[in-house]
Order: sequence, then C-alpha cells, then structure tokens
Amino acid sequence: MSDEQKAKVKAQFGGSAEGYATSDVHAKGESLEVLFNLVKPQPEWYALDVATGAGHTAMMFAPHVARIVASDLTEQMLEKTAQLAAERGLTNLETQLADAEALPFDDNMFDLVTCRIAFHHFPNPHKALSEIVRVLKPGGLFGFTDNVTVPEKQAAGYYNAYEKLRDPSHHWVYPQVRLVSMLEKVGLKVEATSDTLIKELEFHKWADRQNVSDANKEKLLDMMRNIPDALQPLFAPRWADGTMYFTLHEVVLVARLP
Ligand SMILES: C[S@@+](CC[C@H](N)C(=O)[O-])C[C@H]1O[C@@H](n2cnc3c(N)ncnc32)[C@H](O)[C@@H]1O
Repeated sequence: MSDEQKAKVKAQFGGSAEGYATSDVHAKGESLEVLFNLVKPQPEWYALDVATGAGHTAMMFAPHVARIVASDLTEQMLEKTAQLAAERGLTNLETQLADAEALPFDDNMFDLVTCRIAFHHFPNPHKALSEIVRVLKPGGLFGFTDNVTVPEKQAAGYYNAYEKLRDPSHHWVYPQVRLVSMLEKVGLKVEATSDTLIKELEFHKWADRQNVSDANKEKLLDMMRNIPDALQPLFAPRWADGTMYFTLHEVVLVARLP
C-alpha cells in the first residue's frame, strides 16, 4: 500500500515540477515567511528540507544557514530545485533523493528539519515523523506547515475525497489538533503555532497543476456545489469571472526535540 502510494507520488509530481516552480501558493505562499520568522534560522545550522518539491522552502532558508539539503522522492522535482538554486547562486544547497519515511541520513545530524505542504502525501506519517526526530540533533527544531481540515469525521472525509480526486497521490489532511498530537507522540514539543493561514485558489489553475481531466474537474465542481455545512467556512467557494475560487487553511507549527 505504501509503495503504491509512493509510485503515485512520483507519477503525479514527475510531470508537474514546472507547475510547482511557478505556483504562487508554493513560491510565495504566506506560510513561507511565517515559517521563516518562527524558526529564526542561525548561520551555523545544518538544515534539511523534506519533500522539497521545487525547493522554495530550502531556497528561502539557504542564505541564512551554513548548509541545507533539499530532499524529495521525485527526481524531476530535485532537478528543478537544483536548477533554480543554481540560478540564484545558492552554493550551500544540495539535493538528495529521499523518502521522508526512510531518510538516508545518520542520526542526530541536523539543527533544523523543515517540511512544508507535503505531509498529506505520506502514507505512514508516524514513520516520517520518527525519521525526522531521528535525524534531528537534540535541541534541534522541526519547522512544519501543512493544510488542515475540520475535526468532524464526515466532513474531513469529504475534504480528503475532494483532494484525492484532484491528485491521486494525496493521502490525508488532518485537523490541527491531530497534527499537534502526532508531533508530541514522537517526542517533539510544539513551541510556536501560527494563526490559521487562509489561501485563496482559482479552481482551474489548482486543478491544471495536477493535470486533472475535464470529467474530473466537473466532479470536483459538483462536490464544491454540494459541500457539507461544516466545510463551508473552510472552502468558502465563490463563483466569479466564469470560474470558481475557494480557500484552503494552512497552519505552521515549530517544534523542538528536547
Ligand atoms: C506540494 S509539493 C511540496 C512543496 C514544497 N515543500 C514547497 O515548500 O514548495 C509535495 C512534494 O512532496 C513530495 N513527496 C511526496 N511524498 C513523499 C515522500 N514519501 N518522501 C519525500 N517526498 C515526498 C513530492 O514528490 C512533491 O515534490
């Protein structure tokens, strides 16, 4: 099941590196700056970005740490990251093919591990968090962001079905309270939590980034017309300019390994 999920990730993201390189939500999303400000990177740190995608998070931190490894399961994403980093003259950023659930690094190596808007792809999130804790130095920081859903089970199921129809490699988005308990379960102590960050997406841009078929776009729009009441404040769908806009909620958590 896990391997199947990871094959889906590579198939899905292998063809969309360019889309993620230019995606506003990823390249300029508010969580990038919020994460940076809450982490307060230090010049002597050795850092790791897990599931780096097109490398936006790693590139944001690179000028402020000694070295950073940008890692991902998808080779095409790492090629894009390396290209963008070279264009920006970031010589202290290196790329590394790595599954978040089996990190190819020794224990206690990093002062900082980041993982931004990717956790919802991991089929075994506990394993990924255990790996992150293993490679962190004692006293090191984990800078995390991901989308969040509402705690109501049925509504959360609907939310995740919507995301999965757009991107078959989507695994599960959790409510914030669940994320905090998962981090605590592996021994991390959450030191900072952002406000809920609200990002507005234009439906077609969002769907096209994952090459959604016209038939599935229709199904997604139908799902949005019929969302459960509990999801109305989260998605807040809005029809205008011949398209549909909706919002997603994201949270930033910064946790320390004691
Ligand atoms: C939305 S992108 C990440 C965005 C990026 N972190 C940023 O800040 O712009 C999701 C990434 O997660 C990666 N991914 C999914 N599952 C993974 C896993 N098990 N291990 C490592 N990377 C994974 C995908 O290859 C993809 O590049």
